[in-house]
Amino acid sequence: MEDFIKIENINKNFSGLQALKNISFSIKNGEAIGLCGANGSGKSTLIKILAGVLAPDGGTIRIEDTNMVSYGPLAGIKHGISVIYQDISLFPTLSVLENICLARFIEQGRRISIIGGEKNRAKSILEELGVNINIDAIVEELPIASQQLIAIARALNNQSKLIILDEPTTALTSKEVKLLFNIINKLKQNGISIIFISHKIDEILELCDTVTILRDGEIVASKPVKETGIAEIETLMMGQSLVYSQMEDINKDQKPVLEVRSLTKKNNFKDINFTLRHGEILGVTGLLGSGRTELALSLFGMYPADSGTIAVDGVNRTINNVQDAVKAGIAYVPEDRLTEGLVMSYPIKDNIVLATLDSFKELFSFLNNKAIKDTAGKWIQSLSIKTDSADNTVSMLSGGNQQKVVLAKWLEKNPKILILDGPTVGIDVGAKAGIFKTIKEMIKEKGTGIILISDEIKEIVSYSHRVIIMRNGRVAKILERNEISEGYIQDILSEQKQAL
Ligand SMILES: Nc1ncnc2c1ncn2[C@@H]1O[C@H](COP(=O)(O)OP(=O)(O)OP(=O)(O)O)[C@@H](O)[C@H]1O
Ligand SMILES: [Mg+2]
Repeated sequence: MEDFIKIENINKNFSGLQALKNISFSIKNGEAIGLCGANGSGKSTLIKILAGVLAPDGGTIRIEDTNMVSYGPLAGIKHGISVIYQDISLFPTLSVLENICLARFIEQGRRISIIGGEKNRAKSILEELGVNINIDAIVEELPIASQQLIAIARALNNQSKLIILDEPTTALTSKEVKLLFNIINKLKQNGISIIFISHKIDEILELCDTVTILRDGEIVASKPVKETGIAEIETLMMGQSLVYSQMEDINKDQKPVLEVRSLTKKNNFKDINFTLRHGEILGVTGLLGSGRTELALSLFGMYPADSGTIAVDGVNRTINNVQDAVKAGIAYVPEDRLTEGLVMSYPIKDNIVLATLDSFKELFSFLNNKAIKDTAGKWIQSLSIKTDSADNTVSMLSGGNQQKVVLAKWLEKNPKILILDGPTVGIDVGAKAGIFKTIKEMIKEKGTGIILISDEIKEIVSYSHRVIIMRNGRVAKILERNEISEGYIQDILSEQKQAL
């Protein structure tokens, strides 16, 4: 097989920070490379350089037979490179069709009218992908999985030879992931090269031919996936091996912080009963449509229940809206990290105190800047947010580190009950362990109750004191600590899947 692209000795420096060091590698036609590395290791930076969005500080790039000196994104597209970014990058207010034909928009610098031939082509690309999306729909009204497929359709419309996907699966359900993987396999068969970035290493092993591992801006290994495995890749990523352990018991004398009785919402969930103790992490999992996110949204008042009771610290609370929930001491961190109210152009420190600003006000409402900086510094350290200053803007952080800022903001708010919905999608395995260490210290010290909703069984198993498995809007099972194991939960879920 021929190389589609070959890069040598690429470096990239961001005002003193060496994000990439002497990167060399090549991709053959039809090859799928998985790119792994901790948050901030340089994955997104590398693909922005390949796409022509960032210029490297030296090194060479050859695409097919052409030596590229420096090129912008449009030239990147013309040479056959398309990227589907962490935050997708479609134009939300344009239609599906307009998005698919976007390259011509940009080239001509104005809104174009799309001719019949283009429309048919766009349609047939979507058909080929096996997706059923109305091409006249406005993109922002479509679910994220469809948006991703539109981005792929656009890449095909641009006759891409290399399609790069930067963490494409973080916001997808397992069924959508399967569809995406089928499509990627089809692309490979047609000779299209793929670079696939994910923190879910099992996905890389399933989909890719080779895996390339970045650590602190350097390639530390490149291996055929057949010759490696999760443990080795994690070790290479982190520079040390990771130990998974289960939670220790919590003190059974701890009083309940939350008691949910007979909670029901028509068509969503029914007769939900459970208790959450002070200092406890209660894992919640279940297949898509099991009602777990709806339940969380009800507890947070965004989606009030029809009947049943919610008691916080033994007192019944009426929760009809978010204000009610916040007053009751309930906080919710949703899974969609980018829409979750980070202000990208603000410093990290301001984002961290955004939800608790009042507590930093002094006489005449002046803000205590030193206290803000100290608080931010504390979180940067305990969550290992990769930055050299709390004054840097959030936009300078890598995707996973931005997500840690979201988490810091809510932990700083110090609620009685914290609902975390998929809190660590996009966070590397090492940082994940660090985050839960911080959470464990916090719940021990402050008695916070945590509801941890997750699809990742490993995360649920490692970090829950008890686990609720939901099914069809009901609590199917509550596992005590000594019953929690990856195999057992997998078995329950696959039984449920088969019954569908
Ligand atoms: N525009 C920028 N200005 C300053 N520093 C930046 C900028 N973009 C990235 N960096 C820094 O470069 C390093 C690499 O970031 P990059 O986004 O490539 O990481 P990543 O491997 O994609 O991480 P993640 O898994 O969290 O998405 C990080 O330390 C990041 O803070
Ligand atoms: Mg990234």
